Formats: sequence, C-alpha cells, structure tokens
Amino acid sequence: MKQYTIAILGATGAVGTQMLQCLDEQEIPVGELRLLASARSAGKTVEFRGATVTIQEACPEAFEGCDFVLGAADDAIAKELLPEAVKAGAVVVDNSHAFRMDPDVPLVVPEINGADVAWHKGIIANPNCATIIGLVPTWPLHQLAGVTRMVVSTYQAASGAGAPGMAELEAQMAALGRGEELPEPRAFAAQLVSNLIPQIGGFKEEGYTSEEMKLQNEGRKIMHLPELRVNCTCVRVPVLRSHSESITLEFERDITIEEALEALAAAPGVKLVDDREAENAHDRFPMPIDTSDQDLIWVGRVRRDISNPEPNRGITFWCCGDQIRKGAATNAVQILRLLIG
Ligand SMILES: NC(=O)c1ccc[n+]([C@@H]2O[C@H](COP(=O)([O-])OP(=O)(O)OC[C@H]3O[C@@H](n4cnc5c(N)ncnc54)[C@H](OP(=O)(O)O)[C@@H]3O)[C@@H](O)[C@H]2O)c1
Repeated sequence: MKQYTIAILGATGAVGTQMLQCLDEQEIPVGELRLLASARSAGKTVEFRGATVTIQEACPEAFEGCDFVLGAADDAIAKELLPEAVKAGAVVVDNSHAFRMDPDVPLVVPEINGADVAWHKGIIANPNCATIIGLVPTWPLHQLAGVTRMVVSTYQAASGAGAPGMAELEAQMAALGRGEELPEPRAFAAQLVSNLIPQIGGFKEEGYTSEEMKLQNEGRKIMHLPELRVNCTCVRVPVLRSHSESITLEFERDITIEEALEALAAAPGVKLVDDREAENAHDRFPMPIDTSDQDLIWVGRVRRDISNPEPNRGITFWCCGDQIRKGAATNAVQILRLLIG
C-alpha cells in the first residue's frame, strides 16, 4: 500500500494534537510525518505509532516532498504558509477560516458534499466547527423536505478557542474550587466559569458576530443552497469540550416527526438519543459531557415547531458534538481519506 508524507501545521494545538490520533484511528497510511508549530515548540517530541517525532518550526521548506498537509493553525499563519505547501506540490486540508469562502476552494463535510473534493485546486477547507455540528443532522432532514430557514442557538465549549481557552477555563475552575481570586481572563472577554458569554468573534452585519454569520455563509456553500436563511446566536459556555446547539428548521415541503426521526436514526454521522421516558438523563437526550471525545453528532429533543403556522413545516431539535473531533480533526482526516481513496 502507498505510504504518504503528511505534515500537520499547528501540530501542538488542540486540533493538531487530535489530528494525530485521528490519523491513527482512520488508519491513514503515513510513511513520514512532519509536525510543524511555532519556534516555541521546536525540538519537543511526540509519539506516533510507536515512533518519536520531533516538532519542527514551520517554514516553507518544511513542505518539500509532502503529499498532504493538514492545517491546524490560525488564519494568518494559514494564509502565509499553506500556499507555499501547494507550491511544493502538496494537497492541503485546512481548518482555519482563511480559505473557506474562496470560490476556488471546496468546503467539505464528507457526509454532505464529499463529492466536492473532486474540484479542488490544491486546498480543501474544513468548515467552522459549529457549522459542521449543526449541518450533519440538518442534511438528512433537508433531503426529505427541503430546508429554507434555520434558527440556531449554539452553546460552545471553551476548547473551541483552542488550547489556551481550555487552559483558561481549567484555571478558573481550579481557583474557584480553592476559594482563590480568579486569574484575569485572557482567552475570553470575561470570566467564563459560572458565566455565559454571548459573543464569539467580532461584530459584523446588523449586530451578528463573525461566528454567527459562518453558519449561514458556510452552510449555503456546503449544502449548495445559496438562498438558505440562518439566524444564529453563538454563546460561549463553561464546558471544556463538545459544542451543543438548539436548531429550528423550516421546510418547503411537509415533514412529520416520524419521518424526521427515521431519517435521523439512519443518517451517517448521527446518533439519535431521544427517549423522553428514559429513567437516566444520559439516555433521554444528548449532553456535551457524553459527546466529548467521540466522532458522532448526537441528536435529541426532536419535536414539531409549534410556532410555525404550517403544522408540518417546522422541526426543532437539540444536538451535541465534539468540536475538536468532528468539528475539526476528524472531519479533516475524513477528507484526507476521500482524497487517498
Ligand atoms: N479548537 C477548536 O475547537 C477548533 C475547531 C474548528 C476549527 N478550529 C481552527 O483550527 C485552527 C487551530 O485551532 P486550535 O484550537 O487547535 O488552536 P491552538 O490550540 O491555539 O493551536 C494553535 C497551533 O498553531 C501553532 N502556531 C502558533 N504560532 C505559530 C507560528 N508562528 N507558526 C507555526 N505554527 C504556529 C501553535 O504552535 P505552538 O504550540 O508552538 O504555539 C499550535 O500548534 C484555528 O484556525 C481554529 O480556528 C479550531
């Protein structure tokens, strides 16, 4: 079997570290692995499949001879370095926002538009994490009845802000537990422990944030629905890992609850957890504590939108998914799987 030379740019971060595990779990045939990060991490070592790999400082020359590069760094670093990887002949799957809305770059969730990888010109983008988590269960319902509008509230974990976000919440929880004064917030705009922060990203059109607009803009591109309308509110919550979302969908054709449940139960990448009678809350509906460190989007609380004047044109549900895995690393490695066949 052909073995590939694969680099991870941002290999020491929350997403990059998870990518290593996903490469192994998805049995990607890795010949040589190059782990790239900032000068701060150069020289540190990481274990992969029983071998010790030394982290290198990222630079254009590091991509020479690479077949694939997985991007797990921020937008500015992605913009600076990933075109160099393409010039060196590699195919890039990038997690940052840098290339997502470029018309020459496919934006791919394999369960939805895996076929789009075919028209890449060197870069394929991984969508925003909340977008992936919301769209994986929306897609099978769209296929049944044609979604026209989404109203979404997200409850996003601290680790969505990377390793520094996770460390900040852990430090605040520890200080609170010891009864000490909380450290100054740096990764977030305010204290996160015992709090919610209703702003993720900068403010853009009409008071919506950049994170909130991604769900509409990226959703349109992924689902090939240029007219899709999305109203989204994104909230940072004091959960370490795994995002949750409340989603109401409006459809152009009728859809019954029974049809919706059947479609969700059969949908790839989805696990239906929806049993109002269950004694244990963990079997009644999805919760982020149960969906951390696994790859499926769990869906529950599926019900009719009783505010929709058309009785069978609206469905409301709740979903949770690990945004470092399916919202980032798992999805990127699934794209790599599609590329290598
Ligand atoms: N966290 C999530 O849930 C999530 C989900 C979806 C998408 N994303 C996106 O994925 C990307 C990575 O996010 P993350 O959460 O993993 O961030 P992170 O934990 O902060 O990691 C950032 C990575 O970038 C590296 N880096 C920093 N400066 C660099 C430089 N000058 N040259 C090369 N590498 C450098 C860091 O290396 P050092 O350790 O050496 O500083 C680290 O490996 C971002 O674009 C983010 O928007 C994140």
